[in-house]
Parts: sequence; C-alpha cells; structure tokens
Amino acid sequence: MTDDPLLALRPWESPEVTSWGRLPMSAVDRRAQALSLDGDWRFQLLPAPTAAVGDDWTPARVPGAWTLQGTDDLPWYTNVRMPWPDFPPASPAANPTGVYEREFDVPAEWAGRRIVLQVGAAESVLLVHVDGRPAGISKDSHLAAEFDLSDVVRPGVSATLRLTVVKWSDATHIEDQDQWWHGGITRSVLLYATDPLHLADVTVRAAASGELRVDCRVRDAGGALPEGWYVSGEIDGQLLVQDAEFDRFNAADDRVSDFLGEPRMCARVPGVRTWTAETPELYGLTVRLHRADGTVADTSYRRIGFRDVEIVGRDLLVNGERIYVRGVNRHDFHPLTGRTVSRNDMRADLVLLKRFGFNAIRTAHYPNDPTLYDLADELGFYVVDEADIESHDHAHEIADDPRYLNAFVDRVSRMVLRDKNHPSVIIWSLGNESDYGANHDAAAGWLRRHDPTRPLQYEGAAKLGWADPAVASDIACPMYAPLEDCVAHALSGEQTKPLIQCEYSHAMGNSNGTLADHWAAIESTPGLQGGFIWEFWDHGILQCVNSGRPVGRVGAGLYDNGVAAPGLRWAYGGDFGETIHDGAFIADGVVFPDRTPKPVMYEHREIAAPVRLEAFRHEGLVVANHQCFRGLDWLAGTWELALADGRVLTAPAELPDLRPGETAAVPLPFELPADSGEAWLTLRVTTAGDEPWAPHGTEICTPQLLLRAAPEVRETPVSGPRVQVDGDGLLIHPLLTSAPALSLWRAPTDNDELGGMAARWREWGLDSLVRKAVDVRRDGGGVTVLAEYAGNAGVIRHEQVFTPVQGGIRVEESVDLPDAYADVARVGSVFETVSGLDLLEWYGQGPWESYPDRAAGAPVGHHSAPVDSLLTPYLRPQESGGRHGVRRFRLSAPDASGLSVVLDRPRQVSVTRFRADDLAAATHHDQLKPRPGCVVHIDAAHRGLGTASCGPDTFPSYLLQPGTHRWAWTLRAL
Ligand code: GAL
Ligand code: MG
Repeated sequence: MTDDPLLALRPWESPEVTSWGRLPMSAVDRRAQALSLDGDWRFQLLPAPTAAVGDDWTPARVPGAWTLQGTDDLPWYTNVRMPWPDFPPASPAANPTGVYEREFDVPAEWAGRRIVLQVGAAESVLLVHVDGRPAGISKDSHLAAEFDLSDVVRPGVSATLRLTVVKWSDATHIEDQDQWWHGGITRSVLLYATDPLHLADVTVRAAASGELRVDCRVRDAGGALPEGWYVSGEIDGQLLVQDAEFDRFNAADDRVSDFLGEPRMCARVPGVRTWTAETPELYGLTVRLHRADGTVADTSYRRIGFRDVEIVGRDLLVNGERIYVRGVNRHDFHPLTGRTVSRNDMRADLVLLKRFGFNAIRTAHYPNDPTLYDLADELGFYVVDEADIESHDHAHEIADDPRYLNAFVDRVSRMVLRDKNHPSVIIWSLGNESDYGANHDAAAGWLRRHDPTRPLQYEGAAKLGWADPAVASDIACPMYAPLEDCVAHALSGEQTKPLIQCEYSHAMGNSNGTLADHWAAIESTPGLQGGFIWEFWDHGILQCVNSGRPVGRVGAGLYDNGVAAPGLRWAYGGDFGETIHDGAFIADGVVFPDRTPKPVMYEHREIAAPVRLEAFRHEGLVVANHQCFRGLDWLAGTWELALADGRVLTAPAELPDLRPGETAAVPLPFELPADSGEAWLTLRVTTAGDEPWAPHGTEICTPQLLLRAAPEVRETPVSGPRVQVDGDGLLIHPLLTSAPALSLWRAPTDNDELGGMAARWREWGLDSLVRKAVDVRRDGGGVTVLAEYAGNAGVIRHEQVFTPVQGGIRVEESVDLPDAYADVARVGSVFETVSGLDLLEWYGQGPWESYPDRAAGAPVGHHSAPVDSLLTPYLRPQESGGRHGVRRFRLSAPDASGLSVVLDRPRQVSVTRFRADDLAAATHHDQLKPRPGCVVHIDAAHRGLGTASCGPDTFPSYLLQPGTHRWAWTLRAL
C-alpha cells in the first residue's frame, strides 16, 4: 500500500492534517437508525504504519483495545512522560498499527441514499479504506468520525471495510493524559443512511423560562434543492413555530436559500418543569424534515432540558440559584475492556455517584462516551465537558505551535458540536495541562462565538490569575490549590469568577484527608462553590498473575468487593513489563477497579447530605434542607438513639416540609434515659420512593448529633492476681501472642510516600525501633515498665503501668517524643492476639474505615465486622482498616471467648491480620498472607491522611506533635 494516498500523507507526523474526507460533527444522534458493525473483525498488528499487510489475520473485537486482546502490545502506564523521547510532532519508528477488516452488506433499499460510516473512537490516527479505495482520515481519539461512503459503496452489494489505526502520532502529543496507553477502536462502528437532503445539525436552546429555540441545518449531498420541503418540530406534543423574523433576516442576508438551509423554530412551554441536577426533567424533542408532499425525509429525536446557566458576579448560577459543585473527575474506564464501556457500566457509575452525593462530573480529560451525557441528562449531573487536549510533557512547545492550531480548534469545536444540546453540560473545558497559548485563545474564540450560553474554563489559563478577565477561563478552576489560598482569594475582595477547583482531594490509596474541612469552608465562604475530586476510578487492569497478561474479557466472579479473585490481581504501572512508568499513581480513585466504593465515598455522602441536623438546642433539634432545588418530600427518616450502654432506640421520623435552604426546629424524638452515659442521635435518611438512581429505602445520609457527652472512664485498682511480665518487662497474657509495645510507625500510605514523610520516618528508624527495658518495678500486684527505643534522632522513652482492675488489667502508657521527631505516623501501642478471635465489635465510629481527618461520614454507634474484612484492599497495600473514635471493643471467637478493651477516651484503633511491616513489604494485595491472630493498634494519636500524593498534606491540627503523649486502656478476657 505504499502508493496509497492516505499513507503517502504520513498523517501520523502531520499535526496540520486533522482529518481528510471527514464529515462535520453534528448533534443529530443517528445511533437508533444505524446498522451496527460491532463484533469480531479480521485483525493484524503491524510494527509500523508503512509495514506491508500480510495474510495472517486473527479476530479482534470491535469496539475494544488490542492491548487487552492477546497481542504482544500491552497496556503501558505513564502520567506525564511521553512513551518516546522525540519532540512533537515526531512519532516513533516502532509504531504498532492495527489493521481491522470486515465485509459489510449495504442494504439494497439504501439505493439513492446518503450512506455514512461512523467510527466511534480510534486512537490515535484512523485511516479508512473501502474495497481498497481511500475514504478518509481522522484524529481526535475520543470523538466519532463520520465519512460519506455514498460514492464508494453500492447498495445491495457487499463491500470490504478496512480501518487502519496508527497508535502513536503527532496527535499523541496532545493526548498525553494520565492514563494507560492503549490502541484500538474503542467505541462502536455504525453505518446509517439518510436522504441526500437531511438534517445535518440541530441546535437547541431551552431556557428555564420555557422559551425554546431550535436551529436546524439542512444539507444536500448534491444537486438542487427541491421546492416545497419544510421542517416541523414538536415537543411532547406541542408544535414549534417557524421563526418568521429569523427567516426574513436570513433571506435578506442571502446567506441561505428561502427556507432550506437554516430554519429556526421557536416555542414557549408554559409551566415548564426545569432541569437541574436535582430535578432532571426532560422533554422529548422531535424535529422532522418534510418533503413537499408532507412525507418525512429525516427525523431527529432527542431529550432536552430547560435550564439556564450564568455567572453573576462571582457566582455560578443554575436557573438563578447558586449551586454547589460536588464533582468528580471521570475517565472512560473498565478493568477488563479499558476505554470501552457499556451503557450499563456507565449507568452504574452514575447511579453510584448519585447515591454518594455527587452532582457533577468533569469528563477528564476528553469527551467521554456519548451515552454518558444522555445518562447525565437523565439522572441529573452537571457536566464540565472537556476537550481532548493534553500536551502535558511538551505543553510549552505545543500551546503556541501553529502546526497544532488547527487541532486545538478542531477538538474543541467538535466536542461542542456534539454535546451542545445536553442540559447536563453547563461548562466547556479547553482541555488539561497543556500550558496556555494562542492555540487555546483561538479555540476559546470559536467557542464563545458559537455557544454564548455556557461558561468555559481552562485551568492552564486560570492559573495565570484567578481574577484575570483576559485569560480564557470564566471560572477560577485551579487544581489542588491549598484551601487557605482559596479562602483568602474569596475574602480578598479581588475575586471576579466562581472558584471551583477542577481537581482536588487526590484519592490515591488511603487518602482524601480534610475533605470535610474543605466543605466546611466552601459552604461558609461566599465565592467558593466546590470542586471535582480526583478521580472516580482506580484504573487497575485485571491481570493473570501467572501469564502477566490482561484478562481482557468480560466474565462473572472475577472480583469481589475490591479484591481480585485468586490468581488474578489489579495491575498498575510497571506490571506489564513497562520500563518507564509511574507505578500506582494510576490507582487514585474513590472506587476500586470493580467499582466497589472506597471508604471516602461514605465520607463524601455525609458531607453532601441533603438534610442535616444543625444543632441540639432547648431540648429541640434543628433540621436543615441543604439542597438547592428540592424539598424533603422524596426522603424518609428514622431516628436512632445509640446509648453507650449498648442500647439502640429507634423511632420513625417525620421530616419537616422545608424548601431549599430552610431550617425547622423539631422536638427531640426520645426522652434521654438517665444513667445511660454518652448518647448519640442519628437521623437515618433513606429514599421515600423510587428514584431513577435509588430504589425506595436506599440510604442517603446519616446525620448525627451528640446529645450527652461521656463521663470520664474510671477504673478502681483491685488486689487481684498479680500482673505478669517477662524479664524484658513485656506483658504476659494468655490471649496475647505479642505484648503491647510502642508503635510510632504505619505502613506508609501513598500520601506518606509521595509526600516525603515515609522517607523521614525510615531515616529516623521508626519502622524498626528496637526496644530495651531499662527499669521494671513491681508495686503490689502491678508493674511499671520503663523502656527505651533507640531511634536515629534520639532515644524515645515509653512507660507502661500495668495495674490489676476488676476482671482485667489497666494499662496506662506515656511516651516522651523528643523534638526531633516532629510529625510521626502514630503514637500508640500494638499487640497481637491468639488465633480464633474472628469478630470485632466496637463502640465508636464506623462501620467503615475512618481516620482523624476523614471521620465525618462514620457515625458513632455499635458496630461489628469480621476481622478478615477490616483491612481496605488498596491496590498497593498500605496503612488501612483504621477506625476512628473507638471507645471500646471486643474481639471474640465463635464460642464467645476473647478479649475486651475499654479505652480512656475515643481513640484510633485498628484490628487486622497484618503487621505494618507486612503491608509495607507487599506491592500488591495478592501478596499479603493473613496472620492467624489479630494485629491490634491502639493509638493515642494518629496522623491525618491528607492528600500529599498530589496536592496539600493534611492540616497542622492533624499532625502529631513531639512532647508527652498519654493514653490508657483496660484489657479483660471475656
Ligand atoms: C493532575 C492531572 C490528572 C492527574 C492528577 C494526578 O495534575 O490533571 O490528569 O494526573 O494530576 O493523579
Ligand atoms: Mg497530566
């Protein structure tokens, strides 16, 4: 094929060539009328685009990535770095190129019609041939490309379609997003036919006032326009009326023919039900192109929503209301099929997000699958739609490179042309991490002229000045900005644009510390409106441990609750033999690769709670509606009173009738029983009926208030059996296999590693402290043990006082942490138990994992869980499984034997099968070997998690200070 004109263009190293023979993008959805060409195609992988095509074909699935389908070209993960060193627009000589072929039948009844091929997505250069004849070229890997095949196929005759996909190209330099590199055709391939005279595009403007305007573009594929054709429209049965003014204007202007070309229709829907993410009201809009005799030549159907978006002052308003953006960044991702995702999977993503309080999505960092937007319209999400432009590694070189100018405008405009009619899309984004240059301004210029109805944002521009009116961003949309900077900006008097972080709270491993602090500030600081958590998915690819290959096929039972089945694991960077890669940085989502929610999801759910308990005053409660558009009538509630003595009282709750933003006082539903100690009131809020995303009874939030604080725990020493310690002063206890010892270390989280804390802890020797008893003193039945631990920054003294108390032993501990040890992971005791103690019951926060700076979503109560389930299976094992605010706990065997611990005050506790060393030594979850007993940590204090793997660390208030720490607990056998 060396004489092939498409290859001769060498489009993989020509940034100016964005397409050839490709049709303009359109918002007319042809999926329902199309023939699918999905399925198994003939496939071969060439070493380079110019290599000869041989006879050796194997089947490959379309849509799908060949990197997940048994070829030797495997997935490869890099964040910023390009996979080859040459500067743009160069591509490497070794350039995997997939050749896909199949026959297809062109229906005989398509005679005389315009026949169009649509390739949903191909990365990164697509060449189309039909029966050996060139039919088109396209780039822009995450948007569809359409080609008019009318001249190259014959109805009633079958044809051979060849799609050649070149993996690396000049375009790869602007598709350098932080994700796996794949190759293939990742969205569906379709064929459809229209009349030569057809609806080329339909643009809808539907305002919250009920005003509707529909602009049509009617195009002829060739020949003269017939007389008498016309367009009609109808919305849920109501006819749209042709806009006479518009037609007169256009006729005078001579821009279009009398009516064919650009008719506009208008209507006003009285009493319209407006669209918001809380109330995703949709109407069906049908636009028809009629022949002169009234018969229909073409139809476009879509669902539309009536809503306004505007920026007033520094506030982003939807339908005139200031909203909060509770967002997440979402990639198209699946652990088996990569960037190919089914409608069901996308729906499951959105349903899960709704259930956990999210109301917004940034389509990081490219236009997501078109179905995602249909579902966002339907289920209710605000979408920041982002163009497929990220030139991270060569950002500076490309932003002003005129050779890429066309590509920038092409990508932004094609996204807008595709998605402009979605009510869910409220903001356009010019892309991600591509510096800021003239190419952006060119794209912004096109965008502002074409769609003045929506703001646009671009982080690369906004960072030049959050308030600067000259830069191409209507939103101040930083990433990972320290909260104090955001608040300071909002208070500065200089703010001119809404501040909505495009990325914040990096969810890598055990993370998202201080999320609640962020939201407390956002909700109390005018000018701050939210942000998008980075990110939704952990992009772990399911891999066979033995073969090292991706599983790559959809099947049942491959994973469960975030843990891959035996023999399989979640692969991250480097697991497919990549030499240059960025490791576990690809695993930074709020859900596991199988979409199991991580504990942070519960934190988010509570922070986003639509109904809150604000205060307990004068024996009454203040209930508040924290939504922007809905009342509380879609919610039901149950009061739950958790008493320290173990009792839990419940009563049905009547939620007050509150409009958004309103509060009401309601009487306390229970009389507080005397002498029951600490008392917590929880409002368990569920859906009252079926929501499209949550059946009746789905838990929505669990706001909680402390009604009565705990009295101090006092234990009276008894003259009981003497406490036993060994020669080194270590406690001897029949239920413990390892005596309580000082612990100042945790298996570093990703934040600890990437933020530099872990290195410091290792330098100080905290991961391998050696204990030396210096003094063991007996005092009646009790023992006082003074031990020293020789860390590399000075000796650390630890005292334990063991006293016999009723039924057990009281342990009072203190540690003097020299000043050099500023900011350690934890201060506490660790011990190990005999095997068989399989159930943990605790009174404290739960039931899911919580940490000092991520504890807003775990209500205080009586919880229980099997010990085996307590560790959270973060892809790279690390500190996890902790429970915050634990007041007491029991570890028991099925025969009810075991131990109990009562803490002096609420503490961080963790019970798992793993020592910190076990976790730190493993690179993947499948390498962990559970110990038969329990490893129990009781922490006087535990460091916050923060988000330092990418962004700010935790706040100073969650750091551990040097000096004296004291804690006490009582151990009893059951
Ligand atoms: C941002 C970037 C994302 C991702 C994230 C870190 O800078 O926009 O694509 O790389 O950091 O996970
Ligand atoms: Mg990047």
